[in-house]
Amino acid sequence: MNRIIAIDGPAAAGKGTLARRLAAHFALPYLDTGLLYRAVGRRVLDAGHNPSDPVAAEAAARAITPDDTQRSDLRGPVADEAASAVAAVPGVRAALLDFQRRFGGANGAVLDGRDIGTVVFPDAAAKLFVTASPEARGLRRYRELLGRNTAADLATVTAEIRARDAIDASRAAAPLKSAEDAILLDTTELDADQVFARALALLPGFA
Ligand code: DC
Repeated sequence: MNRIIAIDGPAAAGKGTLARRLAAHFALPYLDTGLLYRAVGRRVLDAGHNPSDPVAAEAAARAITPDDTQRSDLRGPVADEAASAVAAVPGVRAALLDFQRRFGGANGAVLDGRDIGTVVFPDAAAKLFVTASPEARGLRRYRELLGRNTAADLATVTAEIRARDAIDASRAAAPLKSAEDAILLDTTELDADQVFARALALLPGFA
């Protein structure tokens, strides 16, 4: 059995927190694949191009290095929008596929994203699809922004989450959807500790 845990789901569902805790628990490396798309979006903007331009976006994806994911400007509405745009470019997804498979291939890993269980590691030993209602996700993102002293409006944040869901789920290239063999974990009513406990209970065969 491989040691890949694939965690997919929409924005602000609690994937990252869960993935980080599972990685620590099983002593596996962790990759937040959303950061790769965010870093590609930033590179395209730095070069003065439009993130929807397929040639510029693919060139940026081919040039990406692990250091790019450490940039301090990968969060916020501009990075969100640029990431969502480059994520719809098939050439970007192909370039990042190699990166992600190399990351997980050798000794296993926990990866979170939108297409880990469907495209990147369809044979992952464990697959979770983590979701929550748009209202719950909007509230979490809103609190996160306030925690970072960023002014935010709950209705606007929730509307942006819904808009990104629609873009991620309707794009032709690797749309957001659960793998058929993924286990659904709805976190609407759960806090981070409960989500972690539930996930461990759902992965009994994983060690
Ligand atoms: O998880 P996130 O919000 O950081 O993701 C940023 C964007 O990248 C989002 O629009 C979805 C996209 N993405 C993707 O298409 N595939 C992934 N594996 C991860 C993220």
